[in-house]
Amino acid sequence: ADPEPVQDFCVAAPMGNGSKASLAFPGLPCKPASTVVSDDFFFAGHARAASTDTPTGGGVTPGNVEAFPGLNTLGLSLNRVDLAPGGVNPLHTHPRAAELVHVEEGEMLVGFVSTDGTFYSKTVRAGESFVIPRGMMHFQYNVGAGAARAMTVFNSQLPGVVLAAQSLFAAEPEIPDAVLAKSFQVDAEIIKLLKSKFRKG
Ligand code: GLV
Ligand code: MN
Repeated sequence: ADPEPVQDFCVAAPMGNGSKASLAFPGLPCKPASTVVSDDFFFAGHARAASTDTPTGGGVTPGNVEAFPGLNTLGLSLNRVDLAPGGVNPLHTHPRAAELVHVEEGEMLVGFVSTDGTFYSKTVRAGESFVIPRGMMHFQYNVGAGAARAMTVFNSQLPGVVLAAQSLFAAEPEIPDAVLAKSFQVDAEIIKLLKSKFRKG
């Protein structure tokens, strides 16, 4: 989904004191080629599991260009998804990439909903893969008895993630209760309850 590279590589320059460099087309600024070393093409961030001691029982370790600068301009990235038994990587979309879910351990129900409202899903086991078309709402759910682990591969260096619950109920500033209540056809009390779960502070 990303633009084609116009040179062998363009290892992203360090972004410095927490400020996100502009993500202007077609990626991040390159560091000087003379300073590029083998380690720029190496990423060890997926060697360990994320904590699954979370409200959803899941943890995702991103491996996008922000974590792995060598991916800049290469049009791909990958995450590691760890799920405790019963854990979920909750409903979300990626605006800029399709996602290939390759399960390495355990069993996950992986599913997405297409624009015509059809729910496609499959129980995916170690060694098997399922693909999520770009932009579709999706999840992974550990339906096995033990831990489950998947690598998720994207055709973008920065697929972006829109978490359904957070987008709707934790946006800053907040979406008016009346809009959410009408949108979901429920009482404002239910919206307040949902906001209380997702809004910080
Ligand atoms: C899984 O859906 C992921 O986005 O890593
Ligand atoms: Mn995803």
